[in-house]
Amino acid sequence: MATYYTEPSRTFSEFLLIPNLTTKACTPANVSLKTPLVKFAKGEQPAYSLNIPFASAVMQSVSDDRMGVALARAGGISFIFGSQPIEEQAGMVRKVKNHKAGFVVSRSNLTPDDTLQDVLDLKARNGHSHFAITHDGTPNGKLLGLVTSRDYRISRDATDKPIRSFMTPFESLIVGRSGITLSEANDLIWDHKLNVLPIVDERQHLDTLVFRKDYDAHKEHPYELLDANKSYVVGAGINSKDYMDRVPALVEAGADVLVIDSSDGYSEWQRETIEYVKANFDVKIGAGNVVDREGFLYLVEAGADFVKVGIGGGSICITREQKGIGRGQASAVIEVAEARDEYFRRTGVYVPICSDGGIVHDYHITLALAMGADFVMMGRYFARFDESPTRKLKIGNNFVKEFWGEGSNRARNWQRYDTGGKSGLMFEEGVDSYVPYAGPLQENMDKTTAKIKSTMCNCGSLTISELQKNARITLVSATSLVEGGAHDVILKDNSGLSGE
Ligand code: IMP
Repeated sequence: MATYYTEPSRTFSEFLLIPNLTTKACTPANVSLKTPLVKFAKGEQPAYSLNIPFASAVMQSVSDDRMGVALARAGGISFIFGSQPIEEQAGMVRKVKNHKAGFVVSRSNLTPDDTLQDVLDLKARNGHSHFAITHDGTPNGKLLGLVTSRDYRISRDATDKPIRSFMTPFESLIVGRSGITLSEANDLIWDHKLNVLPIVDERQHLDTLVFRKDYDAHKEHPYELLDANKSYVVGAGINSKDYMDRVPALVEAGADVLVIDSSDGYSEWQRETIEYVKANFDVKIGAGNVVDREGFLYLVEAGADFVKVGIGGGSICITREQKGIGRGQASAVIEVAEARDEYFRRTGVYVPICSDGGIVHDYHITLALAMGADFVMMGRYFARFDESPTRKLKIGNNFVKEFWGEGSNRARNWQRYDTGGKSGLMFEEGVDSYVPYAGPLQENMDKTTAKIKSTMCNCGSLTISELQKNARITLVSATSLVEGGAHDVILKDNSGLSGE
C-alpha cells in the first residue's frame, strides 16, 4: 500500500514569525547574513561562504556572466546556466573570474595618426571622455599617450589635427604596473589627482584602466564575494548527462562551485555524477532538487557539498500540474533542515541546504532561513533586474523583462527533466512569461536585506544560525491571511508603486 502523508504540505505564505525579545545590541547594523555555501566539519570553516544568502537560479533568463558579476559584487552567487553549449558556458564563467573589480579593459582606443575628428566621433558614439592612444588602436597595444577633453579645444583646433600633436604622451603620464592592487592604484590616483590611471605591462602595452569613479563604486560594495585571488566567486549548473565533457571545461574556466540542476535530484544519475566529480576534480558540487529527508541523505551520502530543496514551487514551474510531483516549499525545507541537523549531530558534518524557488515576498526569504535554509535560490526575483540577460520591454505603461522556465519550449533544457527514455522530450514543465522590471540589482537587494535584518532583530537574532535556533514560527489560518495585508480601508492611488 502507498504511504500517505496526512499533514498537508505548506507554503511560506502560511507561516509568520513571532517576535522574540529584541535587546538593545540587536540592531540591523549588527546583523550578519554570512552563511555557509558548502559542507564543513564541526569546528572548521567552510571553504566557501556567502556574505548574503542569495543565489541566482540556473536559468537562461537569469544567470549569465553579467548577473554573475553583479551578484558576487553584492555578496551572493550566480550559477551560470548550463543549458547552452559547453564552450559558451565556460566562456561566461571565465568572464566572471577575469572580471577584476575596478580594472577595466579600455573601450575607446585610437592611434596617434587618427585625428581630432576621430576623437570627436568616438566620443559622440560611446560618450567616453578618455581615449587610450595605442600603436595599433587596440585595447592592449603599446600605450603611446592619452587624450582627455583637457587636451584639445574644439573652438580653436583644426579637426584634421593628428592626435600625436596634442595627446599627453606616454612619457608625461602617471601609469601603474600590471599586478598592482586596486588600493595601490587608488593611491596613485589620489596622490596625482588623476581621473584615470592606465595600467601597463613591462613592454609598455596597455593592460587595463582604473577610473577614480570605479574605485569609489568598489568601496560601496562591502559584501563582495571574492576568492583568494580577488576574483569574484561563481557557480555553474551541470546536468547528469554530459558531465564528463562539461565539468572539465568548467573547472578549467575557474568555476568555484558546481550544481547539478534537475527538477528531481533523488536519482542514481545524480549519485554517479557526484561520484565522478569527486573522484576527478577538486571542485565543490551541490545536488538536488529534493523535498524530503530520504532524498537529502541519499545525495549527502553520495558526497554532495550542499543540497537544493524544492520541487514545483518555482514561479514559472508547471511540474506539479504536468506530473503531479512536488511538495509545498515550507514543508520541504522544514523536513530537510531537520534531516540536515540530525546528520550533523550524528557525523559532525554540516551540509548546507538551499531553498530553491517559490520566493514571492521578501519575508519568504526570512522564513526560509528561519526554517533552516542556509541560503535561497531565486529566479523571478533576479529576472526583474537590469543585470538579467533578457530583454526589457514596454507593455502598456509598464516595463517588463522576459522570463522563461528551463522546462519551457523556449529554453529546451530537456536534460533538466530527463528521467531516461524519451519522456523528457514530450511535454513542457515551465512557461514563458514576463516579470515587472524593477531596476538595478544592488538597489533592490539593499531593500530586501534591510527587511531581512530588521525582521531578524524582531526575532532577537544577529546571525542566521541564531535565527534558526531562536525562531518561533506559527501557522496562520486562511481567515487571518486577510488581515495580513491592508484591509478595510480605501487605498489612495500610489502611482503604481508596489512593495516587494
Ligand atoms: P522562482 O524563484 O520562483 O522563479 O523559481 C526558480 C526556480 O524554479 C529555479 O531555481 C528552478 O529550480 C525552477 N525552475 C526553473 N525553470 C523551471 C521550469 O521550467 N519548470 C519548473 N521549475 C523550473
